[in-house]
Amino acid sequence: MRQERRQERRRLWQEGCGLRQKGGQERRRVQQERCQGRQQGRREKGRGLQQERRLLQQKVNQAAPAAVLRGWGLGYRREMADWDVSAIPADFFEVAPENWLRRDRERLHELRAGGRAVHLHGVSLNLGGTSPVPVDFLRQVRHLMAELGTPHYSDHLAASGDAHQLYDLFPIPFTETEADRVADRIRAAQDVLGCRMAVENATWYTNVGGMGEAEFVARVLDRADCQMLLDVNNLAVNHKNHGGLTASEFVATVDPRRVSYVHVAGHEFDERFGLHIDTHSQPVEPPTAELARRLRREWGCPVLLEWDNDVPDLPTLKRELQWLASTTT
Ligand SMILES: [Fe+2]
Repeated sequence: MRQERRQERRRLWQEGCGLRQKGGQERRRVQQERCQGRQQGRREKGRGLQQERRLLQQKVNQAAPAAVLRGWGLGYRREMADWDVSAIPADFFEVAPENWLRRDRERLHELRAGGRAVHLHGVSLNLGGTSPVPVDFLRQVRHLMAELGTPHYSDHLAASGDAHQLYDLFPIPFTETEADRVADRIRAAQDVLGCRMAVENATWYTNVGGMGEAEFVARVLDRADCQMLLDVNNLAVNHKNHGGLTASEFVATVDPRRVSYVHVAGHEFDERFGLHIDTHSQPVEPPTAELARRLRREWGCPVLLEWDNDVPDLPTLKRELQWLASTTT
């Protein structure tokens, strides 16, 4: 009887040993599989990055050499799709990348044929917002920059919508805290782009905060170490609506080394709101044009005309560009 119990205990012990051994083997197998899975994942991710770099390099190689940013430019709009590109007397163009990322880009390559640059000026980066910086979008922008051979991408110092893209520009409160927060977002965007970007001073119709706009912009530029797209029409509109610095006085606070180029446009007075609205639907006002010419002369800045609404025909735009480029007002 006692011997039977001993044999039974030994059998149970041996079974237990077998189970423990099996359990150990199973754990090791699972660990090995997990490890192999992680290695495989890292290898695939590495292959993905390598492929992305290879594609980017291919685009860089395929693109013509980067065109030099110079002279007088024009914001290219869909109303110009049928125009003879060679008849447009502009030295460079600007397009919104949002309109071209998932579209046939033959027209863009037509624009840049002949050595004219095509720069990217976006409207949806939402630098003033709180949603995460859109990494995938910026990667696509980086690829498009490489494809077009342009070193220039800009967006506005404004918010454009967090949960939903509103395709409009809302002011950022002029405070030190907001300036630093936005500058950090610009730095994050530049990390993805792999180069500096430019930010444009925007029009605003109401705002809060104790800083002046010039001080706010200077703080953002310094902290982000980015470029500025200086819109002198926006300065004129803000001065008409809110007083404060005139466009010339504001320009005097700007470090010319930060400015990549200058925007000019026209605006309108809206009696309903009692405000001057930045409509980009009118000829440029003579004082704005003269300020742009001065920056062109003294700083060597290229200047670009934005005409987005009620876009006139080609002869009218030609006359406007020729008048801007003339030395007289
Ligand atoms: Fe502008």
